[in-house]
Amino acid sequence: MDFNLSEEHLMIREAARDFANNELLPGVIERDTNQTFPTEQVKKMGELGFLGMMVDPKYGGGGMDTLSYVIAMEELSKIDASASVIVSVNNSLVCWGLETYGSEEQKQKYLTKLATGESIGAFCLSEPEAGSDATSQRTTAVDKGDHYLLNGTKNWITNGGSADYYLVIAQTDRDKGHRGINAFIVEKSWDGFEVGPKEDKLGIRGSDTHTLNFNDVKVPKENRIGEDGFGFKFAMKTLSGGRIGIAAQALGIAAGAYDLAREYSKIRKAFGTEICNHQAIAFKLADMHVNIEAARHLVMKAAWDKDQGANYDMSGAMAKLQASKVAMETTVEAVQIHGGNGYVKEYHVERLMRDAKITQIYEGTSEIQKIVISRGLLRD
Ligand code: CAA
Repeated sequence: MDFNLSEEHLMIREAARDFANNELLPGVIERDTNQTFPTEQVKKMGELGFLGMMVDPKYGGGGMDTLSYVIAMEELSKIDASASVIVSVNNSLVCWGLETYGSEEQKQKYLTKLATGESIGAFCLSEPEAGSDATSQRTTAVDKGDHYLLNGTKNWITNGGSADYYLVIAQTDRDKGHRGINAFIVEKSWDGFEVGPKEDKLGIRGSDTHTLNFNDVKVPKENRIGEDGFGFKFAMKTLSGGRIGIAAQALGIAAGAYDLAREYSKIRKAFGTEICNHQAIAFKLADMHVNIEAARHLVMKAAWDKDQGANYDMSGAMAKLQASKVAMETTVEAVQIHGGNGYVKEYHVERLMRDAKITQIYEGTSEIQKIVISRGLLRD
């Protein structure tokens, strides 16, 4: 066992930290207020390799391990969780899904652009009536011989307006239940595809979340991912890894809020001394630090499991469940330590508190993570 990070991992952490401080921090409050997608910053992240970190270099990726990815995710999320969810969805839902299950043609055509950030991807599973209950897909893809005809609506889609390519899950044969579900690559420019309204969100307001409508969209047969009927398992397997990315995002939000609270407590004075000298504040910092460190171990263990080729369904769910809880608790306490200043935008912690909430909801709510964990525990 070795708790030390390698030279390479330390360099990735440094690069992500520098990028976050130099490129994401300026304007982060304005982007949050105005719901502005970080277009320039995403372009730069693509150039620096943050959008296809784990993809094989032969498809334009960084060829890095999952540990590198979670380290980068933590650093980016300390500063700007809106930017980091774009990174997470593109890396672990879109690129990973395509690289692992896509055909060579699909990889050449789509993955090469997604891994470099030349194009952005979105993952479209959720529907108005299929959020947690993901097998209840209403979107249909009817087999028409050389193509499928896609109809339906997807909701709460991250990168919904900004993506170029969309991985869309749809029902092709209702009688077969989840075994009649497929996943497709859909291009934004295709007839019948419409980006619907943008959501006005509590947090991660710089990321664009949209409803998407599909009206008789012709999807060529070669754009189905995997064997007929593989779509639900594709979604589940992809989400298992996605949850590690969101766990790292939650960890970063918590760590970012803790850093701010710690610094603030060393300069803010009350009752004749810096507030960190009051046990009421010092104990909060101690709790925050312990919780973050424990969450970090779970996140890194899940990443390590994935890198070892071990099953990571449970460890990813555990990491997400715990890190998102810690993100919520830590950000609330960070606001509390800041007092009145914590409630205003310029101190950043109120934004981190709003951003934290989504980590308990997307890519499977905390309740869904408990389903995954408890089923794993009870399986013989
Ligand atoms: N890997 C492979 N296969 C899996 C799997 C996994 N991790 N999890 C389930 N499956 C398989 C099962 O083995 C089963 O197949 P068989 O019948 O052939 O054995 C099939 O999938 C159905 O599984 P269940 O019977 O367990 O299905 P269920 O209806 O009970 O649901 C669930 C299971 C875990 C609750 C699932 O529905 C789920 O994960 N729901 C949450 C969905 C979710 O995370 N949505 C997030 C939206 S995406 C998003 O947020 C992205 C974004 O933009 C940020």
